[in-house]
Amino acid sequence: MKNILGIIGYPIGHTLSPLIHNTAIKHIGLDYIYLPFEVKKENIALAIGGLKGLGIKGINVTIPHKESVIPYLETLDDNAKFIGAVNTIKLEDDKIKGYNTDGLGFLKSLKIDAKEDVKGKNIIILGAGGSARAIAIQMALEKANSVIIANRTVERGKKLAEYIKLKVHDPSTGWVPRKLKVKAIALNDSLLVEYFREADIIINATSIGMKDNNNPLFPYNYISNKHLVCDIVYRPIETNLLKEALLRGARILNGLGMLIYQGSLSFKIWTGHEMPVEIVRKTLMKELKS
Ligand SMILES: NC(=O)c1ccc[n+]([C@@H]2O[C@H](COP(=O)([O-])OP(=O)(O)OC[C@H]3O[C@@H](n4cnc5c(N)ncnc54)[C@H](OP(=O)(O)O)[C@@H]3O)[C@@H](O)[C@H]2O)c1
Repeated sequence: MKNILGIIGYPIGHTLSPLIHNTAIKHIGLDYIYLPFEVKKENIALAIGGLKGLGIKGINVTIPHKESVIPYLETLDDNAKFIGAVNTIKLEDDKIKGYNTDGLGFLKSLKIDAKEDVKGKNIIILGAGGSARAIAIQMALEKANSVIIANRTVERGKKLAEYIKLKVHDPSTGWVPRKLKVKAIALNDSLLVEYFREADIIINATSIGMKDNNNPLFPYNYISNKHLVCDIVYRPIETNLLKEALLRGARILNGLGMLIYQGSLSFKIWTGHEMPVEIVRKTLMKELKS
């Protein structure tokens, strides 16, 4: 019998994760299969409880369950603890362990695809949702100089900024106390243009940029050729934001790398194998272009 991996979320119809993992499984020749499972909010406890019973080896967790699964897990890795959300679960020695590879996946893409280092950099993150949270915390852990969170709902951004400040200065969490400027502002705050002047890296972690949701988040003339502009939206691969950034001479990074590397980190956790990322990237490009 094959070893079963999968993903839980709701809705789950458009997930690319089965394509990513089954491409890697086939290429390496592993005895695994990766399946999507549509799980409603009210069934999350039953779904997690069922993993052991069914002998499932591991799963990814996506919207809306990344936080609500935590009470049903037996241990968490450090990243999942810091972020307060789980995107990967592994059944290890009969224990259900939660991991978070979202922030690390983005970081790998930044390092490998954009050849960018985070240490000492000034970073603007647009958004304060689940992905923005994972990325902002990862950027803080990587010793960014400043993290500015610009969100439509400023209160949500402020909560995230407060959380990061608290954790950075809490020795019990293992974070080394150090100087880090973290601030939350509204997307339409007039100060945003000032932060753009100081910024090295701009990251769109909102859902703006997807096909039917394309209004500019800020005036594009804030972008200059000293910026690296990243968009974690990957449908389309090149969003309007990235097109506008290119026009202004900025370097760009699309969301495909984050998608692949967060998957490759989960894949390694479950199978112990490196994902053939370039094979997976080619397959995904073909799928997203069609
Ligand atoms: N590349 C990857 O691997 C990867 C991984 C995960 C997610 N993503 C993409 O990242 C995006 C965000 O995902 P998520 O899980 O973080 O979603 P989420 O938790 O629902 O957060 C959505 C964010 O978008 C903002 N937003 C939504 N509509 C907006 C609008 N009309 N104007 C301004 N801001 C708006 C929200 O602001 P408010 O707080 O004001 O509502 C919030 O900050 C999605 O498009 C997803 O496809 C990519």
